[in-house]
Amino acid sequence: MLKNVKHKTLMLGVNMVCITGFLFTLMNTQANQSYSETRKDRTLLSLTKRTINKSKSTQLAYTRNILMETSYPIVLTQPYKINNEGICRRVPKITCIVMVHTSLNHFERRRNIRKTFNSTYYNPNIIRVVFLLGLTNNSTLQTIIEYESLVHQDIVQGYFMDTYHNLTNKGVMGLKWITEHCRNAEFVAKIDDDVFINFYKIFESLKFIKEVKKYLACNRLEADTNPIQRGINDKWYVHRDVFKGFNFYPYTSCSGLAVFISIDLVPLLYKAALISPFFWVDDFYLFGMLPAKIHGVVHYEINANISFNHRRTFNCFSKYGDKCELLAGITDPDINPTKIRIW
Ligand SMILES: *[C@@H]1O[C@H](CO)[C@@H](O)[C@H](O)[C@H]1NC(C)=O
Ligand SMILES: *[C@@H]1O[C@H](CO)[C@@H](O)[C@H](O)[C@H]1NC(C)=O
Ligand SMILES: *[C@@H]1O[C@H](CO)[C@@H](O)[C@H](O)[C@H]1NC(C)=O
Ligand SMILES: *[C@@H]1O[C@H](CO)[C@@H](O)[C@H](O)[C@H]1NC(C)=O
Ligand SMILES: *[C@@H]1O[C@H](CO)[C@@H](O)[C@H](O)[C@H]1NC(C)=O
Ligand SMILES: *[C@@H]1O[C@H](CO)[C@@H](O)[C@H](O)[C@H]1NC(C)=O
Ligand SMILES: *[C@@H]1O[C@H](CO)[C@@H](O)[C@H](O)[C@H]1NC(C)=O
Repeated sequence: MLKNVKHKTLMLGVNMVCITGFLFTLMNTQANQSYSETRKDRTLLSLTKRTINKSKSTQLAYTRNILMETSYPIVLTQPYKINNEGICRRVPKITCIVMVHTSLNHFERRRNIRKTFNSTYYNPNIIRVVFLLGLTNNSTLQTIIEYESLVHQDIVQGYFMDTYHNLTNKGVMGLKWITEHCRNAEFVAKIDDDVFINFYKIFESLKFIKEVKKYLACNRLEADTNPIQRGINDKWYVHRDVFKGFNFYPYTSCSGLAVFISIDLVPLLYKAALISPFFWVDDFYLFGMLPAKIHGVVHYEINANISFNHRRTFNCFSKYGDKCELLAGITDPDINPTKIRIW
């Protein structure tokens, strides 16, 4: 079943051919065929009437073979390039598995995360970290990554290019990997590699996430309030044919920099990916489109306790240490987060 996730959406394809056919006809054959009113009245319906008998000229246009293929995240059908299967083994129970979206050359950030998320600080809670990576065509870099993986055994690399527009693949790979290799975790944290998690606070005020079902605790983004960016130069540019006619993202979702997920939800999200066509904006795909396919997912709002400003994060932890009310926050990648004096 997993192998056969590509379906040709023939219906859609045929529609596309028709529409293209009409436009083609309109532009190339009809303009001069005494239908002076065509210019005023270009509705599809009137076009349908007019083109229906022009068998010769229109059929030519119809023969352009446009087939649209629905594509799903590539990681659903690919193996891993690097897989450290043992990350969650050796202990029966893990409190939190942290999956980190990181870039190949962010060695320093990974080093900091390894230091600060060290379980010994949070005893008796046990934390494990998995770094999610894609492919590079720089063979030197690949060799370094393989070495890093040998040393730290905390890297999972998938068969997709590690690019911005492939982040959805990275996220789905994380869901897949946890589903397969880390079901003994009590909950999951998904973060970007410049985010610091205040586990002291988490284990205190968010520990209910171990008990509840189908929970996402995150900076919640309401459905129908977040504009879909249509400008070609926008950071989150989405082509006008994708979610066509929609001005706002139609499902409740999360800002992806820090999301806490109840463990029962992970295999459900993974399964939902099998029936959710690829969409490159990873936050919306992972925490909006996938949950929308599952009955009863809760987006629990912790917006006030997630910092998007590295100065706010730094000041809060410098001043209040582990009493800082933030559960997670962006850090300045140029400042070593171990300088935040909370350990
Ligand atoms: C179509 O009509 C325009 C103006 O009515 C004319 O200039 C043009 O040559 C015509 N084209 C064809 C292909 O008949
Ligand atoms: C279209 O074709 C049908 C059947 O061949 C014919 O009855 C009808 O008159 C035609 N319509 C036009 C506008 O040519
Ligand atoms: C965690 O800290 C302990 C004690 O300081 C140290 O022995 C261990 O190597 C650290 N682990 C990692 C992954 O840094
Ligand atoms: C490597 O990838 C970059 C883009 O990611 C591309 O521009 C470049 O041509 C690729 N190089 C090779 C040798 O494939
Ligand atoms: C390949 O990666 C190495 C290690 O990060 C880097 O030093 C080098 O500049 C990269 N080469 C290219 C062509 O980008
Ligand atoms: C994503 O990864 C796939 C598989 O390596 C690749 O074919 C595709 O070009 C990548 N997409 C982008 C936008 O980089
Ligand atoms: C979030 O921060 C507020 C103070 O700003 C605090 O009262 C609340 O307990 C925090 N929530 C969580 C879940 O930690």
